[in-house]
Amino acid sequence: MKIVTVIGARPQIIKAAALSRAIKEHFEKEVKEVIVHTGQHYDDNMSQVFFDELGIPAPNYNLGVGSASHGVQTAKMIEGIEEILLKEKPDYIVLYGDTNSTLAGAVAASKIHVPIVHIEAGLRSFNKSMPEEINRICCDHCSTLLFSPTATGFKNLIHEGFNPDNKRRFTIDNPGIYHCGDVMYDNSKHFANIADKKSQILDKEGLRGVDYVLCTIHRDNNTDQPERLNAIFKALLKISESKTVVLPLHPRTSKLLNVNLEKSLFEKITNNPNIKILPPASFLDMIVLERHAQMVVTDSGGVQKEAFFFQKPCLILRTETEWKEIVECGAAVITDADEERIIKSFNNYMENPPHKFPEIFGDGKAAEFICKEMLENF
Ligand code: UD1
Repeated sequence: MKIVTVIGARPQIIKAAALSRAIKEHFEKEVKEVIVHTGQHYDDNMSQVFFDELGIPAPNYNLGVGSASHGVQTAKMIEGIEEILLKEKPDYIVLYGDTNSTLAGAVAASKIHVPIVHIEAGLRSFNKSMPEEINRICCDHCSTLLFSPTATGFKNLIHEGFNPDNKRRFTIDNPGIYHCGDVMYDNSKHFANIADKKSQILDKEGLRGVDYVLCTIHRDNNTDQPERLNAIFKALLKISESKTVVLPLHPRTSKLLNVNLEKSLFEKITNNPNIKILPPASFLDMIVLERHAQMVVTDSGGVQKEAFFFQKPCLILRTETEWKEIVECGAAVITDADEERIIKSFNNYMENPPHKFPEIFGDGKAAEFICKEMLENF
């Protein structure tokens, strides 16, 4: 069986590592994987570092599309992916999550009848102003095998008309849907101890033994809307009066800080010994930062989950989340970009940290299950 895996953005490189590892460990004879990097993320610390650390084979193709408007970026990817699919003639294309790279892979493959495997299917924010929501809905609806990490994702697919009773052989018109656990959980389990041994980040940044709050911000509605960005940073400034705040910043956010933050706030943030702004962290460094943080504050989908994997309370800087189970069990709270809500929820969690972290994301073997099911349907 030959698969073409498409990756492009940072979290996809991380997710793909779990599948590549499962292939290497269990299915090396049966599965040949061709990796296509769209080049959506291109800075070394957004891309190459993950290949190095996670032991992912180097991409066979790099489309080098880089940054552009959604239309231009996606169109360039569709063109490049189509050409590769026509040449490689794979049995499946494997797509991850909800980025423009996912959408491009879905459009290119479905039009030339290459069956799509969508990993992280069924997640919904029910907010179609997010580009990611459009990307994931489009991808799900032209997929053949849909692997949902959570029960909620699986139910969302059923609500949208997918039939859980479909029988093999699955096709685009008779798709197979699965609730299989999360490949990111596979990775966190696999790399947690390796990260503690290898990562130097705590010593390098003087964080060992320090009580800190870990924060990431990169979603366009937070970085590009000055009111939201200012509200978040005002809250972080307040939090920094009692805790160190550690911020590994996405390049999008770094570029916009001095544009969109009020000047006095920008100065208070950047000249503050209790606010540590770092470059984007590598995966192993990020795991260590998450494991040793007291709390996580984020607008990232992946970081919300990793906070949960490492049993840390999390404040979600969005109006909704695709991972509603973590909110329902009290481990995370949606604060939006609302200064008061962020500070109030921070104080609540400092006084009453959550205790319940049920097994929502599977058993750490999702990637192995996905490989088996692909082979069964092949
Ligand atoms: C993308 C995904 C998002 C995912 C995120 C993970 C889409 C629509 N969004 O958002 O779902 O959660 O990746 O990080 O696909 N930039 C750099 N260097 C890089 C990459 C980006 O400087 O290596 C800057 C550029 O200014 C670029 C901006 O970041 O314009 C945004 O990059 P883009 O890939 O469009 O979206 P992300 O915000 O990274």
